[in-house]
Amino acid sequence: MPLNSSYNDLITKINQWDHEYYVLDNPSVSDAEYDQTFRKLLDLEANNPALITAQSPSQRVGAKPLAEYRKIEHAVKMLSLANAFTLEETYSFFEKAAKELDIPPSTLTIFSEPKLDGLAISIHYEKGLLVYAATRGDGKIGEDVTHTIKTIKSIPLQLAIHNPPEKIDVRGEVFIPVAAFKKLNQMAEINGSKVFVNPRNAAAGTIRQLNPKVAAERDLQFIPYGLGEYEGKFNFTEHSEILNYFHTLGFRKNPHCYAFLGDFAEFEKNYHVMEQIRDKLPMQIDGIVYKINALQQQTSLGFIARSPKWAIARKFPAQNEITQLLEVDFQVGRTGVLTPVARLEPVFVGGVTVSNATLHNMDEIERLGLCMGDSIEIQRAGDVIPKVVKVVKIGTQRKPIIMPELCPVCSAPVERIEGQAAFRCTGGLTCPAQGAERIKHYASRKFMNINNLGTKLVDLLYSKGALKTIADIYSLKLSDIAELEGQGEKSAQNVLDSIEASKPTKLGTFLGALGIHEVGEESAKTIAKYFKNLNTISHATSEELMQVPDIGPVMATNVVNFFRDEKNQAIIKQILASGVTWQDEQSTSTHQQILAGQSWVLTGTLQNLSRDEAKALLESWGAKVAGSVSKKTSCVVAGKDAGAKLDKAESLSIKVMEEAEFLEAFNVSQESDIAS
Ligand code: IVH
Repeated sequence: MPLNSSYNDLITKINQWDHEYYVLDNPSVSDAEYDQTFRKLLDLEANNPALITAQSPSQRVGAKPLAEYRKIEHAVKMLSLANAFTLEETYSFFEKAAKELDIPPSTLTIFSEPKLDGLAISIHYEKGLLVYAATRGDGKIGEDVTHTIKTIKSIPLQLAIHNPPEKIDVRGEVFIPVAAFKKLNQMAEINGSKVFVNPRNAAAGTIRQLNPKVAAERDLQFIPYGLGEYEGKFNFTEHSEILNYFHTLGFRKNPHCYAFLGDFAEFEKNYHVMEQIRDKLPMQIDGIVYKINALQQQTSLGFIARSPKWAIARKFPAQNEITQLLEVDFQVGRTGVLTPVARLEPVFVGGVTVSNATLHNMDEIERLGLCMGDSIEIQRAGDVIPKVVKVVKIGTQRKPIIMPELCPVCSAPVERIEGQAAFRCTGGLTCPAQGAERIKHYASRKFMNINNLGTKLVDLLYSKGALKTIADIYSLKLSDIAELEGQGEKSAQNVLDSIEASKPTKLGTFLGALGIHEVGEESAKTIAKYFKNLNTISHATSEELMQVPDIGPVMATNVVNFFRDEKNQAIIKQILASGVTWQDEQSTSTHQQILAGQSWVLTGTLQNLSRDEAKALLESWGAKVAGSVSKKTSCVVAGKDAGAKLDKAESLSIKVMEEAEFLEAFNVSQESDIAS
């Protein structure tokens, strides 16, 4: 068989199997056969790279996005929906529509669909091939998310029909099924990474990920619900036909869709059915979407502002239950903030049994007038952790909720953060609750950039007691690492080498790595530039720190308190003794501070420099590089495809330089300047 056709056969086969598995929930081959065939495809592609096409299933996890958050204009505006919260509101919406159409409401055919709780996406196909996918954005302009959308296996890279339309936008919801969401959060807890509050946030966060590999590991799904741009033979008369058509194109179907006549009693019946199945569905739904099925009627009704006059979302009410507040614990977070957590008499609400609720802070407890022993109403509105709405009955044996004076983890004194509702443990670098996270922050790419000392390894070393503070990084022994599961002598040596290689650093980087509250990457650099050496910074008063541009009283106080703490001083001393060094600011800057005090913004894709390089150059001349344009911006450097920031600069009459102009104006000869 010619190479080309056996390659195409492999692609067709795998695409067909993916369709059976991910769209029809009806697999026809064993995992082993699938894996073997996939491997064949990969081998063939590795040996014949010229053959590779964008439709190959191997290309689902492909290139990174073209630019961070590239904008895409929707040819047909992406609408949103008006909400109804009662049966009466729902019915009267369609009564009004019927009146406008001059027909009785009961002659309307209403199509009902579960309202999937995720993120609206428009996927654009040309000649049957997936070209790009975008978020809704403001309805007219969305964000390019092609790279992550392509990783979703229930989205065909090529439409499954022989005569596809010239152009079609398939619009629908990307969501994460409840089981996959639970698994994701369990993993996040184990790895110490971010836990998502609800499936919707998880879906949105995953789609807007820059790294498609991360998206590919999360079990996202897509279900279409409407049409955007369409160029081709159009012979649909009903919305339901379009949904059926999507299915023939290779997409999943929304389960539990119904068609009925626009009678009040029919709406009522449908709502009760949906309410019943809600908690049994594999995905989270937050309501029902009702649409007039006839496309002609839809067209003659049109839309107002952002929503159609032929469809409405009937939202489910938040689910509330009454239970008893047994106890309040205080959890110490990564930054040392103590958060009160309500321990409840377990209660079934919104499809799950809950035994914890967030209380946010002490002000919230006071506002609610809450004591342990009270009967309370809790609410679940799609989020994992419910919130406390109010006290419904005062307990007979009430106990007041008091912020502990000492940290429940390390016993250091707890103090209120000035001007805020939060309380914080003053244990600093020595509090174990903050420990592992602080070490991760210190070693991260942005700061000490210790390759190979990733979050999982830090957690492991921390739990074994080999790492207690950031200073312990420098006394790690080969055996500490090598004896951990999944590590060997070689990888342990790599970690030690990376630690060694990270020792020469910069003052600003080190200061940021210490994780002083509120002092981020930029502020740390500014402070370092201003004071020039660590000794001066550690002895600076709040007043002196507030002289630094952009440093306010909260940050200044945090810096002073941090260096005043003897435990922190001891840790810094230990780190310096282990060989971490930098040249003081004065001697490192060979450039004149020609842009001192200015604020610059970079936007679009630069052709000759990377963003980081351009940023480093500007900073070496004393400029601050900001993320957004404001009246204070001195100049904007605009690369290719610059978007909203450029528009804003123009509207504020702020100076804009194109990349070439920028390079020329500052006489940047790339080899010398960028390398230095
Ligand atoms: S139709 C012009 N159908 O809900 C009609 N939307 O609150 C556009 N949604 O932006 C939407 N499930 O992201 C429609 N079956 C469904 C839906 C649905 C979820 C989302 C969609 C929309 C939002 C409005």
